[in-house]
Amino acid sequence: MTSVRFPRDFVWGAATSAFQVEGATKEDGRGVSVWDTFAATPGNVRDGDTGDPGADQYHRFEQDIELMRELGLESYRFSVAWPRVQPTGAGRPNLRGLDYYKRLVDGLVGAGIRPMVTLFHWDLPQALQDEGGWENRETAYRFAEYAEIMYDALHVRDWLTINEPKTVVDCGYRTGIHAPGVRDDDRALVACHHLLLAHGLASRVLHDRHPGRRIGPALNLHPTYPADDSPEAKEAARRQDARENRLYLEPVFNGTYPEEAMTRHDMIMDGDMEIISEKVDVLGVQYYTPLFIDAEQRRVVRHPVRVAGWLEDYPDGLHDVLLRVTRDHPGVPIVITENGLATDDAVSPDGGVHDEDRIDYLRGHIGAMHRAVKAGAKVEGYHVWSLLDNFEWAEGYSQRFGIVYVDYATQKRIPKDSALWYRDLIETGELR
Ligand code: FCB
Repeated sequence: MTSVRFPRDFVWGAATSAFQVEGATKEDGRGVSVWDTFAATPGNVRDGDTGDPGADQYHRFEQDIELMRELGLESYRFSVAWPRVQPTGAGRPNLRGLDYYKRLVDGLVGAGIRPMVTLFHWDLPQALQDEGGWENRETAYRFAEYAEIMYDALHVRDWLTINEPKTVVDCGYRTGIHAPGVRDDDRALVACHHLLLAHGLASRVLHDRHPGRRIGPALNLHPTYPADDSPEAKEAARRQDARENRLYLEPVFNGTYPEEAMTRHDMIMDGDMEIISEKVDVLGVQYYTPLFIDAEQRRVVRHPVRVAGWLEDYPDGLHDVLLRVTRDHPGVPIVITENGLATDDAVSPDGGVHDEDRIDYLRGHIGAMHRAVKAGAKVEGYHVWSLLDNFEWAEGYSQRFGIVYVDYATQKRIPKDSALWYRDLIETGELR
């Protein structure tokens, strides 16, 4: 195998999100989020798991920064819990909540690790949900106010607005398997528009107040392929692509919706599309799985699936999706903000966690990314999902995505073999 080398300035990192790792859901004045409410309702989350204990990062962030330093990480992508900063989603900030993120950022910078901050990773303040949540246009304006508080409080260059608007739309509003648990295609489109409006408004605030910093969305892109050669399957894959990818890329980059995916328009006001297409300084791309679609518009699973049933191991998908973005929206700097795999991890008698499948997955995907870079994709950095095992939404603590194992009873951290492999990659820049 020819050696695969990354340039010295390529940035290697890991990602988490607030609700998944912080724990401490009732401390220091944090308000209730939609995920607290959703998880408290029996039947919504496997085994009745909740945001506590998470990985208790709220109390252990210093130790986690030390761990990141030992692994050689150069970037840490985390999210701010909006209800820690504004317990009801509006008004003056809760200083204790804000202080946590200041200390986290200071600690990272002190350790030579760049912070990359996501403003919204799904934990909407419940008080805003009670007023209609993302179906209420006002939520987008509240989000921009909250964003302004964060921009002014944290000396951070790189920001992400909304994490995976598609997952909120599809899982939160269409299938209802995520908070707020709505099952209504029509309402999902209203939420979709307001999420994108929030993205645009918050991006504008950053550009107005802090020139020189960068912001963009974190989009989970699913390359779609026809499952066979029939014209029907090709057409079905094209339709799926409109709903999976174009519904988010086109408004953000071009200021237009693909008509076939955005079938409702009454909530779109004059000027909205201009706001939504505010300049993207950096695009967060999250890739986990391809979608192979048959003539009946059904998904056909083609590649190995492990613990997470929705995730097919198909590295070429990352290559394809990066080149597609490069072709359709040239020039935008890309950062991989998530990519990773859940495996059945357990601590071995020798004390280690031997997650070979995860190493294979990462090796394949990082190699595919490298090929895309060679072919012209402007990828600056890569974040593995996730630094730590954590609360995997409706699957609770049953699915482990971390490169570091968390024993939830003791909160002990054990770097898995994948973490040690990643450390070597970072150190040498060479994929082995
Ligand atoms: C993504 C989410 C992230 C994590 C991974 C496995 O969709 O953004 O929080 O749950 O999937």
